[in-house]
Amino acid sequence: MIPESVKNKLSEYGQEHVLKYFDELTDNEKKALLDQIEATDMSILSAVSNPDTASSKGKISPLKCMELSEIKENEDSFISTGLKAIKKGEVGAVLLAGGMGTRLGSDNPKGMYNIGLTRDLYIFECLINNLTDVVKKADAYIHLFVMTSEKNHEATTSFLKEKNFFGYPEKYIHFFKQEMAPATDYSGKIYLEEKGRMATSPNGNGGWFISLSRAGLLEKAREWGIKWFNIFAVDNVLQKIADPVFVGATIEKNCVVGAKVVKKNAPDEKVGVMCLEDGKPSIVEYYELTDELMNAKDEKGDPAYNFGVILNYLFEVDELERIVKEELPLHIVKKKIPYLNESGELVKPEEPNGYKFENLVLDMIHQMSSCLPFEVVREKEFAPIKNKTGVDSVESARELLKKNGVTL
Ligand code: UTP
Repeated sequence: MIPESVKNKLSEYGQEHVLKYFDELTDNEKKALLDQIEATDMSILSAVSNPDTASSKGKISPLKCMELSEIKENEDSFISTGLKAIKKGEVGAVLLAGGMGTRLGSDNPKGMYNIGLTRDLYIFECLINNLTDVVKKADAYIHLFVMTSEKNHEATTSFLKEKNFFGYPEKYIHFFKQEMAPATDYSGKIYLEEKGRMATSPNGNGGWFISLSRAGLLEKAREWGIKWFNIFAVDNVLQKIADPVFVGATIEKNCVVGAKVVKKNAPDEKVGVMCLEDGKPSIVEYYELTDELMNAKDEKGDPAYNFGVILNYLFEVDELERIVKEELPLHIVKKKIPYLNESGELVKPEEPNGYKFENLVLDMIHQMSSCLPFEVVREKEFAPIKNKTGVDSVESARELLKKNGVTL
């Protein structure tokens, strides 16, 4: 029996096709599919007919960045402030590892990727090594929160356990799962990934704070005295985590968020740049950057929008709690989505074939009352692994690791 509420919901959103194989399913599978339909927020699907909603921006103006020279001058003070906060346990690290890494195309979670050449060196291992450097300097462990999704949770947790968390004490590592969203074809029809299951994908990295809170970890973090969360992507193997100089600068400048940035290597480089939007901190994505903004100059004659974000932010927890109820824009992203074809066979596409729906952490910056863009040296801190080869790939990251003295 299919409840009326399910029939009505599917008809309201034009998704009746997800019941195509209903009669072939076992009782348990039927129940699971009906539960999934009930639990899925289908209102987001209407965004397919209006895919530009997320990118309507306000008035853009420059936001001053703290550049390398200024950091150098104040380095001792920033480091001492940062280390003091870390020693007191005020900084938690949040690893965003819920993504599917479809561009890299590995079946395993990205963090399990072995980038070693003469020895094993996993992406997770690089990150934990980088965190351990700071632990040693501060002589204090830092709580590490790891966001996974239902698609990679099991693989991630069992891998890290098997590797004994690369030497990091287990009691300082806390996993939580992010939410999922349906995935559709280009006309907004939800794909099936099994006869009894709609295709879903993680709902973007913007939901990290809500998911962390729902998992009961915000309460724990508060008990442990955490006042700042340093969130970072899984794929930048040169990433400095809970970097004392960055923590200290953000605190000393009385900002509620710090954003690590690199100087762009070309005006049209594909990174989001820091700016003010209607007077509040914000990020313009590269595809939103008009020629006028790309060519704008500051008072020194340098490009006015010249610093790109690298997905390493330090958020004040009080401010996160203040903004938690505000909605983030929904991004509709073209991705490769495994699906059942007309004959009911599973297809793993080589090219994007539909839409995923995501909230992005970069949109949280615009909800913050103040932000410190903090420049870092690209060659020392930015080696993202997005693709198999070429730009931001395993190859380019290996080169940068070698330059930084890491044996591969
Ligand atoms: P990316 O933007 O590179 O997305 O994520 P992705 O889904 O992992 O990779 P592609 O685009 O399919 O190749 C940047 C960071 O945000 C995390 C990723 O794990 C990575 O650390 N992320 C992304 C999440 O934690 N959840 C998501 O839903 C999406």
